[in-house]
Amino acid sequence: MEEMKKIKPGDSNHITREYFDSLLLEMRHLDGSLPDTKLELFGERFSTPVMTAALSHLDNVRENGMAVMAEGAHLADAVSWAGMGDEEELEKITGTGARTVKIIKPYKDNAYILKRIAHAEKCGAMAVGMDMDHAFSGNGSYDVVCGMEMRPKSAEELKEFVRATSLPFVVKGVLSVKDAVKCLEAGVKGIVVSHHHGIMDYAVPPLLILPEIVRAVQKQIPIFVDCGVESGADVFKALALGADAVCVGRALMDPLRENGAQGVRDKMVSLTEELAGVMARTGAPDLAHIDPSVIWKR
Ligand SMILES: Cc1cc2nc3c(=O)[nH]c(=O)nc-3n(C[C@H](O)[C@H](O)[C@H](O)COP(=O)(O)O)c2cc1C
Repeated sequence: MEEMKKIKPGDSNHITREYFDSLLLEMRHLDGSLPDTKLELFGERFSTPVMTAALSHLDNVRENGMAVMAEGAHLADAVSWAGMGDEEELEKITGTGARTVKIIKPYKDNAYILKRIAHAEKCGAMAVGMDMDHAFSGNGSYDVVCGMEMRPKSAEELKEFVRATSLPFVVKGVLSVKDAVKCLEAGVKGIVVSHHHGIMDYAVPPLLILPEIVRAVQKQIPIFVDCGVESGADVFKALALGADAVCVGRALMDPLRENGAQGVRDKMVSLTEELAGVMARTGAPDLAHIDPSVIWKR
């Protein structure tokens, strides 16, 4: 009862958890086989569709936290994502050898964004992008993050960022078909369906809107999902509903704090093994053959 009282009405993280748990799975054992969890992304191969989320400020969790997190992803042969942080930090992250997607904030100053895109390219990032859902604060003004002003970006500005780099440009924080279609029109090469761990109350759970976005995107670009992924079953449900891969953030914090890169690696491997366990019991031989019809809505 105490627990229940603490949940604020409209808490998007809670609504998202409830939605994950409302999705049930049938089993298909006949003609089964051992599953393959390999992911192909932007022409490269990885052992798992479980990726780290675009995190930041992890020095609060562990010294050099962002680089240690990336090292964990590299040990798991997984894609690493990096959020806000200076150039020196990104160099440490990519220096671990982790194949990294660098997410840049929607700064007011587009010249600064272009400078950071060029720097990510120089560092050998595998892709670059923007968390466009960080333009506004909760009270209807422009957001200010670590003293830096943010602005919403137009489809034309997105096109400029896409054109500015030879790397795939991805947009994080897509939670509508309208934004997904604008991203496609701008030449964006991947989207993250996300509400940025509850940036707005009553945000639709990513998995609830995912099938609509998948229909609109029609496999033209990869679709990633984050927010509340805590288990291999969660990963499976996201993939079954059309995601190509998922990002995991908060569920990696304790492993990072307690066991550093090895802890992150072990957690990513265990999420992948749980995913494989569900794939085996639902008749999915590989990521491309996870059948959405195994999902039942409670
Ligand atoms: C400590 C922390 C820092 C984050 N920093 C960023 C960031 O700089 N850029 C960004 O796009 N998202 C950032 N996020 C959001 C995550 O990328 C992700 O969207 C969110 O945490 C939902 O995933 P989760 O439920 O697995 O944590 C951050 C999240 C956390 C917990």
